[in-house]
Amino acid sequence: MNVLWISAHPEPRSLNGALRDEGVDALRALGHEVRESDLYAMRWNPVVGHEDYAADPNERFFVGPRSEQAFTEQTLSADIVAEQEKLRWADAVIIQFPLWWYGMPAILKGWFDRVFVKGFGYGTRAADGRVRRYGEGVLEGKRAMVLVTAGGPEPTFGPRGVNGAMDELLFGLQHGALWYTGMSVLPPLAVYGANRVSDDHYAQAVAELRDRLKTWEVTEPLPFRAQHGSDYDEDLVLRPEIAPGVTGLRAHLADG
Ligand SMILES: Cc1cc2nc3c(=O)[nH]c(=O)nc-3n(C[C@H](O)[C@H](O)[C@H](O)COP(=O)(O)O)c2cc1C
Repeated sequence: MNVLWISAHPEPRSLNGALRDEGVDALRALGHEVRESDLYAMRWNPVVGHEDYAADPNERFFVGPRSEQAFTEQTLSADIVAEQEKLRWADAVIIQFPLWWYGMPAILKGWFDRVFVKGFGYGTRAADGRVRRYGEGVLEGKRAMVLVTAGGPEPTFGPRGVNGAMDELLFGLQHGALWYTGMSVLPPLAVYGANRVSDDHYAQAVAELRDRLKTWEVTEPLPFRAQHGSDYDEDLVLRPEIAPGVTGLRAHLADG
């Protein structure tokens, strides 16, 4: 299997750097092909700009009929095309980052902003003309897993913890970007209390990571609801008989 490991940490000698090295080694030992996008090492430019779109620099920012046109390899800058090519190659994608201000580091957010452009991340259509999203799309059939480290202790990310529940903090990434583009999203692996990690804690995190990587092909994905199933009405609002009375982010999980 082909695995793309995307990581966003400025310091290779960090907890994140160590976990990435362990994970990549484990995957290779299991016989998988691994490619990496180490965004800081690549000096990834996270800022969307006119120069991303060679053929018509204004195209991206038009609203109206011209914006219906999807971007192609001829019109996109080479660094974006290279990342899209890695994603097409991959069967599974690991997205690894330290939690910074409740979310992903800007360099990683900017990877999504620039790589998931129209015609790739959004705005593709099925044969019947419907827009493919939430369970359908260019990346359909691939598996994705988030690996996140967080300074706060685990209980602070629980249902009543002060940081908010981790699955809710990850909703934008997991539901809004990964599931949106068609990927099956495996349960995330979070390492809490990551500012001071004892040897035991580190060994436990590595063991859990290795276990996840060993089983990712058979792990049940999060049960996000498909847009084109019967759960949503034509306005993409859950039908009244689906999860009655449940509101908020968890309503979009079939077991929520
Ligand atoms: C800019 C910045 C913002 C951070 N924001 C959070 C946060 O919102 N919640 C949290 O639990 N930890 C936060 N932390 C702590 C990091 O998540 C923690 O230091 C990191 O996961 C440890 O892994 P590392 O040694 O690989 O960097 C933040 C750290 C930095 C530098």
